[in-house]
Amino acid sequence: MALEKLRKEETLVLRKKLIGQSCRLFYSEDPVKIVKARGQFIFDENGKRYLDCISNVQHVGHCHPSITKAASAQMDLLNTNARFLHDNIVMYADRLAATLPEKLCVFYFVNSGSEANDLALRLAHQYTQHEDVIVLDHAYHGHLMSLIDISPYKFRKLAGQKEWVHVAPLPDTYRGLYREDHPNPGQAYADTVKYLIEEVHRDGRKISAFFAESLPSVGGQIILPQGYSTKVAEYVRSAGGVFVADEVQTGFGRVGSHFWAFQLQGQGFCPDIVTMGKPMGNGHPLACVATTEEIAGAFTANGVEYFNTFGGNPVSCAIGLAVLDVIEEEDLKGNATRVGAHLKDLLIKLQPRHQIIGDVRGVGLFVGLELVTDREQRTPATETAALVVKRLKEEDNICVSTDGPWESVIKFKPPMCFSMDDAELTVKCIDRILTGWLHYHILSTLVTTGLFAYICCFH
Ligand SMILES: Cc1ncc(COP(=O)(O)O)c(C=O)c1O
Repeated sequence: MALEKLRKEETLVLRKKLIGQSCRLFYSEDPVKIVKARGQFIFDENGKRYLDCISNVQHVGHCHPSITKAASAQMDLLNTNARFLHDNIVMYADRLAATLPEKLCVFYFVNSGSEANDLALRLAHQYTQHEDVIVLDHAYHGHLMSLIDISPYKFRKLAGQKEWVHVAPLPDTYRGLYREDHPNPGQAYADTVKYLIEEVHRDGRKISAFFAESLPSVGGQIILPQGYSTKVAEYVRSAGGVFVADEVQTGFGRVGSHFWAFQLQGQGFCPDIVTMGKPMGNGHPLACVATTEEIAGAFTANGVEYFNTFGGNPVSCAIGLAVLDVIEEEDLKGNATRVGAHLKDLLIKLQPRHQIIGDVRGVGLFVGLELVTDREQRTPATETAALVVKRLKEEDNICVSTDGPWESVIKFKPPMCFSMDDAELTVKCIDRILTGWLHYHILSTLVTTGLFAYICCFH
């Protein structure tokens, strides 16, 4: 049975029967069934083309010919367990090392962002011999049990917070504790971590790691205020802990100006452990942990082998190398800078005409549009955000999704080949939808108040 020959309804029925119902689809009410893709476009079973603003995994573009070629050439030649000696893993590690600060020079290859973060927890624990972890509010770091424990976004809906996990405020200068009018939000938010560490110490516990995304994405496309990470790293290290930067979503040039999002915090800042995943293999499961010789040394010193069957196999590394080549050859960092700035600019220009746009933020092709029902209170406009997502898909064949604690932030993390035209089309469609929404809103208010006036007169 050729699966692509199934009618959409049949696929849905089989999916419902065979796949765990907690594995949700995008647009669960009316999912898009995709059968092929190219660049920033995906195609459904009827050949309808959608502009994809969601797939940050297909980093250099869906089905990029160079990636396909590298994968099939290596697959044709050899693929094996990562325990045989092979060139690809060392050549790839060497290329990754060139993108990172010198001290992050030891690599462990794994298969997913979750595996990378789980290993980062183990490395931190082994190196520091401490147990406790500080995470940011609303964070998500993966689906393994160890990571659910350090993901407030998940554990709040499940078993709750473990005694070894401590939650620091999200450094969100739009709706957090310290906002855009604060003279030094980076320092103020870093101090919240300092106070948390003091509290942990008062309870007789010790910090192993501070764990954070370099740009909190599930938290709502948040841009960390300047100086935050440097100060936090200082406090965490003086407590004997390490700083883990989760770059699973944000690495590989997405921010445009830098290869890694943690580098937005300035030259002087370097995490102790960096985890990476999603974009690395352009859709092939490839992920990694980079760390220092000291931390890796402590991990080795426990005498227990670290063995990962698939992590760093020749095919994965051939793909990883090809992704790095395409980023360079097609100047995708430059493209992210230019197109991301244009997208942000166009969205900012909508703000005076649409009161519902509370905030526009982002760097490179990591952009968020936060909708609010009133700008004063900054009340999340969750329903309207969902409506915009639905109408963009149904009327304009544009796929976007939402994030943030209230799902009120429309996020843009398209493949890095996203073009100026794509940005312009997307913003034009958002403008039209929001204008229609505004007219509908005014009309319904008039009807309600008119009706009210009529009832008053009548009485
Ligand atoms: C920031 C972050 N870290 C880790 C993960 C887990 O990665 P994976 O789904 O590849 O296990 C995700 C996945 O969404 C993520 O967004």
